[in-house]
Amino acid sequence: MVKLTIIGNDDTAYELDVQDGSSVMENAVRNGVPGIEAECGGACACATCHVYVDATWTEKVGEPEPMEEDMLDFAVDVRANSRLSCQISMSDELDGLVVRVPEMQG
Ligand code: FES
Repeated sequence: MVKLTIIGNDDTAYELDVQDGSSVMENAVRNGVPGIEAECGGACACATCHVYVDATWTEKVGEPEPMEEDMLDFAVDVRANSRLSCQISMSDELDGLVVRVPEMQG
C-alpha cells in the first residue's frame, strides 16, 4: 500500500492508502472524490479525470504520453502540471503523491 492524497473540487483532502499499480483515477472514483467523473473508465478518451499534480511531485510523475497530451486539450483550465489521473499508476516511487482536482471540473 502507498499513500495518495487527492484534493477534491470542494477543497476536501482525501487521504488514501492505495494499492501499488492502481491508477489515481480508480482511487478517486472508489472514494467518491468530487470532480472526477472518469466517463471513459480509464481509456484515456474523455479528460474528465483531469488533475493538477502538486508542484513537489511533477518531476517524479513525469510528462504525459502523446495520446494523453492530445486528450488534455479537452480538459478544463489546463496548466503545466495537468495530467489525466487514469494515466498515473501508483508505485513506491509515488508514495505520498498529492494531486488536486480543478475547481471548475465536474
Ligand atoms: Fe477518461 Fe481518464 S478516465 S481519460
